[in-house]
Amino acid sequence: MGHILVLHGPNLNLLGSRERHLYGHTTLLDIHQRLQQEAAQAGHTIDCWQSNHEGELVDWIQQRGPQANILLLNPAAYTHTSVAIRDAILAVAIPVIEIHLSNVHQREPFRRHSYIADIAVGQVVGFGSHSYTLALQAAFQLLQHGGEAPSGH
Ligand code: DQA
Repeated sequence: MGHILVLHGPNLNLLGSRERHLYGHTTLLDIHQRLQQEAAQAGHTIDCWQSNHEGELVDWIQQRGPQANILLLNPAAYTHTSVAIRDAILAVAIPVIEIHLSNVHQREPFRRHSYIADIAVGQVVGFGSHSYTLALQAAFQLLQHGGEAPSGH
C-alpha cells in the first residue's frame, strides 16, 4: 500500500467550464472522485489538492511530499515557467508523473517546454481527464516496483 499525492496548478479549478474544447466537460471534483475510488480499490491512499498560487504548490510539495510515495502533478501554466516547483520536487526527491489534459505539443510553441519533464518518471499528455486515470495506473505500477520505473523486460 502506498500514499499518492495529486497536485493541480492554476485554473484547473475551472475544469468543466474552462475552454471545454481543450479540457473537456469533466470537473476537478469528478476527477478527484474517480482517482479516490480507483486508489481505494487498489489499496492505496490518495490526497488531491489544487492551487492557483505557485508558492502554495511549493509549500505543499515540501510539506506533503515527504509523506507520499509518488506525486501526480499537473502544474498547468507553471509547467512552462516554474523553476520553484521543479526545485521543490528535487528538494524532497519524490518521484513525479507529469500530467496534462491537452496535448501540449500540438499547441502554442511556449507550451512545448516543461520545467518538470526531465525530472519526471514520465508524462501523460493529451487524453483529457483520462490522463489522470492513466497516470494513476502508472503510479500503481511504480508502487508495485518499489518506486522504480518498470523496465519492460
Ligand atoms: C495544461 C496545459 C498547460 O499548458 C495549461 O497552461 C493548463 C493546462 C493541461 O492540462 O493541458 O492550464 O496543463
